[in-house]
Amino acid sequence: MADSDHKRATAEDAVLRYLENHHEITDSLLFAAEVKLNPDDIANAIKSLHGHGYVDKQEITKETWLLTEEGKTYAVRGSPEMQLFLSIPPEGITIDELQKKFDESSFKIARAQAAKNKWVDFGKQLVTRRIQHVDNDKVQTLLLRIQDRKENVSTLDISQEDIKSLTKRKLISLQVKKLFSVRRGPNYAPERKKVATDLTRDMLQSSDWKNMEFKEFNLNAKGAPTEHGCLHPLLKVRKQLKDIFLQMGFAEMPTNNYVESSFWNFDALFQPQQHPARDSHDTFFLKVPSTTKELPEDYVERVKRIHESGGHQSRGYGYDWKREEADKSLLRTHTTAVSSRMLYSLAQDSAQKPFAPKKYFSIDRVFRNEAVDRTHLAEFHQIEGLICDRGLTLGDLIGVLEDFFSRLGMSDLKFKPAYNPYTEPSMEIFGYHKGFGKYVEIGNSGMFRPEMLLPMGLPEDVSVIAWGLSLERPTMILYGIDNIRDLFGHKVDLGLMKKNPICRIGLESD
Ligand code: PHE
Repeated sequence: MADSDHKRATAEDAVLRYLENHHEITDSLLFAAEVKLNPDDIANAIKSLHGHGYVDKQEITKETWLLTEEGKTYAVRGSPEMQLFLSIPPEGITIDELQKKFDESSFKIARAQAAKNKWVDFGKQLVTRRIQHVDNDKVQTLLLRIQDRKENVSTLDISQEDIKSLTKRKLISLQVKKLFSVRRGPNYAPERKKVATDLTRDMLQSSDWKNMEFKEFNLNAKGAPTEHGCLHPLLKVRKQLKDIFLQMGFAEMPTNNYVESSFWNFDALFQPQQHPARDSHDTFFLKVPSTTKELPEDYVERVKRIHESGGHQSRGYGYDWKREEADKSLLRTHTTAVSSRMLYSLAQDSAQKPFAPKKYFSIDRVFRNEAVDRTHLAEFHQIEGLICDRGLTLGDLIGVLEDFFSRLGMSDLKFKPAYNPYTEPSMEIFGYHKGFGKYVEIGNSGMFRPEMLLPMGLPEDVSVIAWGLSLERPTMILYGIDNIRDLFGHKVDLGLMKKNPICRIGLESD
């Protein structure tokens, strides 16, 4: 039997046995003290017995005034004002002499009360008795009466005013107790019938079950909550976005490398080596391994050439391209690094077999050496889509963005010219947010430059349109989170994550 069951059984037994020879338990608290059992166990036993008709019960609230520690000392020694009065000799005493007899705080109280009672004159020179004699230390008398009569407040004949002043002086406090009075109930028996909760093998073998009473099933009892894992909001939104891409016929790119070389992250994207984004203030470079092991050498050569002197009708940047710079390992700063690898491998395929158009997407983590604030972390997730086909135009890009974002619930888009080293033209994407009542920036896009695509070896007439956005932004908007640290990192409230609703992108605007 569990410990709590055992305690309750003992308490039940005590109550039933007592009622066998007594008419009533008038005070369950006193009863608990008498039988030396925990008052809570007795109360629980009474409730349970009452539930089965063994006893009738009545709930009683008992309010008792108790002396505080300070009150108790005054009850023994008299009030401080009385002590002060008695310390004044008939000829009077200087205040300094008088004060020596008391500690600081009780002197203050005593002095105030004695003055209030008009017992004492506090003169300039001397403190003197104002009356010859105080025959009753009222405070002490009241305290003794309260102490002796531990009875209900309502029957204590002390005036409200006195109670108020004693309470105010913190000499007494009210104790509220809930207790039961208990009598035999309609199903009273001196012993509670044992009911079985489980049918056991022994009961079956011995046939005891035939004479046993079984506890009824409580069909209203709630089951124990089951432990379960849950998806983080970012994962829920990622799943929805992934479904949108899949519905639009996009295939997922492999994103399983957080560590990338500067070459694929920047150089392949025609991002010049002096570009501020390539500074360690913006990018996390790795110490170990500090450089990449291998790069496709002939392609590296073509990239170097396009940076230095151009080609394919481009003038290039006209600077000295350094291999060491391209070799540096970093934590990828955007998923466009994934796209550049993918497009390069597509170009390799197209050297062997005819070029086939492709639609790709990726959703994964990127890193930036940024000051962390309520909307920025040093790591976040990017969503990126690209389409690679012959003869694509800016109109195709706008069309596919309108299709994609309308599936996210944003059908009213605006575009603003922008600059990326790897796209031309480039456009920032703004969407009208109904909740905010204004246009908000939702992504960046463009057509990859020939300086990026042609060195890879893609056919001349193949264009690539692409766009990117963060996963955190729509997630924070969808889940009403305004501090990114509540969404990501060690401060995230797991309870909140568990309670988060499922993600229903786009439905509210339909
Ligand atoms: N890489 C860009 C960024 O990090 C997004 C982008 C992707 C822009 C593809 C144009 C084309 O913001």
